[in-house]
Amino acid sequence: MHGFILRRVEPADIEAIHRIEEECQFRPWPTAGFEFHLAQERSTRFWCLCPKDNRERIVGYICFRILFEECYLLNIAVDKDYWGRGLGSFMLKCLLTYARRRGAKKVVLDVYKDNFLAISFYQSHGFSFVCNPRRVKGEFCVMEMKSLSQ
Ligand SMILES: CC(C)(COP(=O)(O)OP(=O)(O)OC[C@H]1O[C@@H](n2cnc3c(N)ncnc32)[C@H](O)[C@@H]1OP(=O)(O)O)[C@@H](O)C(=O)NCCC(=O)NCCS
Repeated sequence: MHGFILRRVEPADIEAIHRIEEECQFRPWPTAGFEFHLAQERSTRFWCLCPKDNRERIVGYICFRILFEECYLLNIAVDKDYWGRGLGSFMLKCLLTYARRRGAKKVVLDVYKDNFLAISFYQSHGFSFVCNPRRVKGEFCVMEMKSLSQ
C-alpha cells in the first residue's frame, strides 16, 4: 500500500491502539487484552499500520495467531478517519501472505453477528460463515477462509 508500512507493535503503541479501538469497535478490548497478546510473542503476531513518513502515527492494527495449519484472526481495525481507503484490505492481505508462507491452510475468526460492516468486509475478501448465524446461539458467529494454500 503506497505510503504506509506495517511494523511490529511495541508496548509504547498500546495507548494509541486502544484509542482507535475505543472509537471504532462496538465492544472494545481493554488495554490488558492488547498487552496480553503482545506478550504472546511465540504464537501471536501484532502489527500496526503507519504512514511511511511518520512511524509513530498509528492508523490501524491487526493481531493474529497461527497454530499448526490454522490462522486465527484476533483483531483488526482501522482509524475511522481512514476507513474505505483500502487499508483494512491491505493488512488482511499481508496476514494472508504471511499465513500462507507459514503453512496455514485456513483463516478463522469470530465476529459479532451485528457487526455488518466487518462481515461485509470479510465476505468481500472471500470469508464465509461456518454456520448460518441465525442458527447459532450467542452474539458471535465464526467465519473462515479455506484453501489458503493455492
Ligand atoms: C472492518 C474495517 C477493518 C475495514 O477497514 P477499511 O480500511 O475501511 O476497509 P477497506 O477500505 O479495505 O474496504 C474493503 C471492503 O470492506 C467493505 N467495506 C468497507 N467499508 C465499508 C462500509 N462502510 N460499508 C460497507 N462495506 C464496507 C467493502 O466490501 C470494501 O470493499 P470495496 O472498497 O471494494 O467496496 C474497518 O471498517 C474497521 O476498523 N471497523 C471497526 C473494527 C471492526 O469491526 N473490526 C472487525 C472485528 S471482527
